[in-house]
Amino acid sequence: MSPFPRPVYGPLEPYAPDRRPAEVDLSDNTNRWGAHPAALEVVRGADAEALLRYPPVYADALRDAVSRRFGVPPEAVATGCGSDDLLDSTFRAACEAGDGVAFLPPTFSMVEIFARMNALEARPVGAAPDDDPLQLPDPEQLVDAAAQGNPSGGGGLVYLCRPNNPTGELQPRSWVEALLDAAEARGERGPVVLIDEAYADYAPDNFLARALESPRAVVVRTLSKLYGLAGLRVGFAVGAPTVIREIEKSRGPYKVNRLAEAAAVAALDDAAGWLPEIRAATLEGRARLAFELAARGYEPVPSAANFVLVPVDDAVWVTASLRLAGVAVRPFPGLPGIGDAIRVSVGPPHELDRLLSALDGLYA
Ligand SMILES: Cc1ncc(COP(=O)(O)O)c(C=O)c1O
Repeated sequence: MSPFPRPVYGPLEPYAPDRRPAEVDLSDNTNRWGAHPAALEVVRGADAEALLRYPPVYADALRDAVSRRFGVPPEAVATGCGSDDLLDSTFRAACEAGDGVAFLPPTFSMVEIFARMNALEARPVGAAPDDDPLQLPDPEQLVDAAAQGNPSGGGGLVYLCRPNNPTGELQPRSWVEALLDAAEARGERGPVVLIDEAYADYAPDNFLARALESPRAVVVRTLSKLYGLAGLRVGFAVGAPTVIREIEKSRGPYKVNRLAEAAAVAALDDAAGWLPEIRAATLEGRARLAFELAARGYEPVPSAANFVLVPVDDAVWVTASLRLAGVAVRPFPGLPGIGDAIRVSVGPPHELDRLLSALDGLYA
């Protein structure tokens, strides 16, 4: 009889972020301006067909809408139940059990969980407690870490979050190019480089075009942030068609439901130009938040995303105190090289006002 649970699942805990309601919730980087209005209209107008029939197996209409919006061929796009689904599927498609997933801590916390869920080894690079997390290692180090001792003899996977969650950092383009070059130079024994662009809608550049050309790169995106559709769970991956086909094999059928697909298409088409408006408001709010925090003596990490990481003396205490004042943020105790910090999503002016006055009340 096989063991239940699998031994590799032993240390796994179900994901359990603090989801208690708050008057002002700046804890999960969703869109504080609301859901995309065109998507909301689709959901409101749903009929029985949308519920009773199976969706298209691989969400063809969604794939076409991504293709239109980003100018990439439809066969270079895979879609899924949130970008989490694409990260998970790519891990599975790229690696055999026991292979390595190299990453730069601190980064998206689900990476280690997805690695373990797929019986892979999470391999942090540059995690020494005193390392400066904004100091990047030689890309070859990541490529080596992903490959080292892999039972399959393959190159494993390098995960890179750009802009990074939770720091907001945008790794220099030249450094990412060097990482891709290093992976490609090893040919079939090189790692797959998975670039998580969940926050690239707020950044000055991205790697979509580069992923199309590379036999080793995959870019993953989400509609949970700028598009305001986290509840519908829609994400997509872009890469060379040969790579995308492998991801679809490991993803499985029917992952985007019929209603989510139709709503996502309307949001991607963005006929009324809502997206650029919200993006501009978010960037304005981000600049204001950084300015106001600095004026109060905090040293927020420069961010290319829709959130700001703020080092504090005691992340758990600050988070609990802000919650008492009706504001939810995410605590990050003991981040390597940073220490304690809170991560604050950028919201509209009245929500930032609430946050700032709650912060002002902390030591009053
Ligand atoms: C870096 C990063 N990647 C992926 C995700 C997951 O997004 P989705 O809602 O598309 O699954 C998140 C969510 O917060 C994230 O921060």
